[in-house]
Amino acid sequence: MSHIGSYDERLRDFSWEISEKELDYRPGKEINIGWYCSDRICLQGKAEKTALIWEGLMGHERKLTYDDLRKTSNTIGQYLRDLGIEAGDRVCLFMDKIPELYIGFVGILKTGAIAQPLFSAFGDESLFVRLENAGTRAIITQKKHAPKVRKIMDKLPDLEYLIIVDHDPARPLGAKERTLDLWNMPWVDAFSIYPTFAETPSVLHYTSGTTGQPKGVKHVHYSLISQYLTTKWVLDVRDDDIYWCTADPGWVTGTSYGIIGPFSMGATQCVMDVGFSAEAWYKFIEKHRITVWYSAPTAIRSLMKAGNELVTRFDLSCLRHLASVGEPLNSEAVIWSEKVFGKPFYDTYWQTETGSIMISNYPGMKIKPGSMGKPFPGIEACVVDPKTFEPIPESGKIGLIGFKPGWPSMMRMYWNNETTYQNKFKNGWYMPGDRSSIDNEGYFWFVGRDDDVINTGGHLVSPFEVESALLENEMVAESAVVSKPDDINMEVVKAFVTLKPGFEGNKDTELVIMNFIRKKLSPLAMPQEIEFVPNLPKTRSGKIMRRILKAKEWGEEIGDTSTLEDD
Ligand code: PRX
Repeated sequence: MSHIGSYDERLRDFSWEISEKELDYRPGKEINIGWYCSDRICLQGKAEKTALIWEGLMGHERKLTYDDLRKTSNTIGQYLRDLGIEAGDRVCLFMDKIPELYIGFVGILKTGAIAQPLFSAFGDESLFVRLENAGTRAIITQKKHAPKVRKIMDKLPDLEYLIIVDHDPARPLGAKERTLDLWNMPWVDAFSIYPTFAETPSVLHYTSGTTGQPKGVKHVHYSLISQYLTTKWVLDVRDDDIYWCTADPGWVTGTSYGIIGPFSMGATQCVMDVGFSAEAWYKFIEKHRITVWYSAPTAIRSLMKAGNELVTRFDLSCLRHLASVGEPLNSEAVIWSEKVFGKPFYDTYWQTETGSIMISNYPGMKIKPGSMGKPFPGIEACVVDPKTFEPIPESGKIGLIGFKPGWPSMMRMYWNNETTYQNKFKNGWYMPGDRSSIDNEGYFWFVGRDDDVINTGGHLVSPFEVESALLENEMVAESAVVSKPDDINMEVVKAFVTLKPGFEGNKDTELVIMNFIRKKLSPLAMPQEIEFVPNLPKTRSGKIMRRILKAKEWGEEIGDTSTLEDD
């Protein structure tokens, strides 16, 4: 059984006050995630403890103690404040997984500004819509990503500063450009942290939906209460652990459990800013003696593909607890992990909007491979009927997942998008948009998404965003983007395109269109294939029926299309 008590015990006496008390937080008092992640840990006597072990390309390594994290985040906070950044301003972090990303996140929160992390592989179009929607005031980036920002800066009147952390002095700076060389400037020891409270906005993460532009998910400082406790109880992070979360902080896992969770617990965490290779990952675990590892099904499937023999070449006995998130974790992956690591991967389910783990296989609980587990204590979850939104009492019946609103890390709003936010609630339940069943022991079994959003390798891709990029090409008349099955990524993006008169759909055309959209989208959203078709299936009102195209890709029954035609 786990050192933190069994799942059933925790359910019985649960209240979020447990977390508040452990964090010495009392309702109505100040709460600042940046302070919790650095200053508080130093005040607990752990100033010299290692907070971050970072490894980049070519063996480049950096280690930071909690005192270093405190001072460097103060330094970034002071720097931003001196520029005139104020509480509530959106400051974007647009970097690879370098130390400045982690420190910058903590520093921004200390100023009371809102941290807006964006995946550094985004093309300029993806970047533009997210910065424009947020009205971002400053962006912190690396010289290699700065050109993408320069390209769109003139169209973003709110964007006052482009801050480069590794600027090449030989290159003249533009009017709005600034440099921030954290490693060659004096660090700020004392910084007056902005007094943030439970409902003060903290983080703005962008997520993709089926229709419309990506939505900015607004979180608040109070989210710490659930992020801290789930890190402790679900990921089972303890004081002496060496923790590795493989997610990029451009996405929610990389901030909730790659920054806030581990740092607020005072754990030591490792970050690897090198592309995926099974060998490099095992080497990393062995070298740093990683004990808790939080990863994703696509990575696990890639490791499986690399074979069992490779695992035996490394001493991975350090691993104590493994967890996974982002997409369905197939039972084969759980069984494989038990075989090669001697431990299963514990599946966890949540999303950008929920801010923290909602359903999971809790340490010590019986794992049913293929199931997402049970709701975290304090989370009321059910599956509801898709028409009445009433909870389905029978076990095994598929419905839509519903959560009773009110847990600390629930999103507070979609940025500038109240209507879409309100639409996420039905009959008093928050609807994450996923289908599941619940078995007779209360375990949730994921079935699929309830919309057209594509989950490729654990990353949500909006068909709308890809279709919009395609439509900007002069040859494209119409487009429909759906998923198709894939062994490793579970699903990948496929585009159907009709061309304008005079253009011919062939390999050359496909290449030209692919190159055209590559600059606009992130590599994750890129279609693996474009199929040229004479026309697309549509409803009578002219809406494209992606569902029909998708069913074909998955070899499924198309079903009754007459109702769809009526739209
Ligand atoms: O469809 C579910 C899927 O990923 C969605 C959330 O994606 P995102 O907001 O990008 O956050 C990802 C990391 C928290 C969910 O609505 N998903 C997430 N975890 C699982 C999952 N699908 C199946 N099993 C999971 N464990």
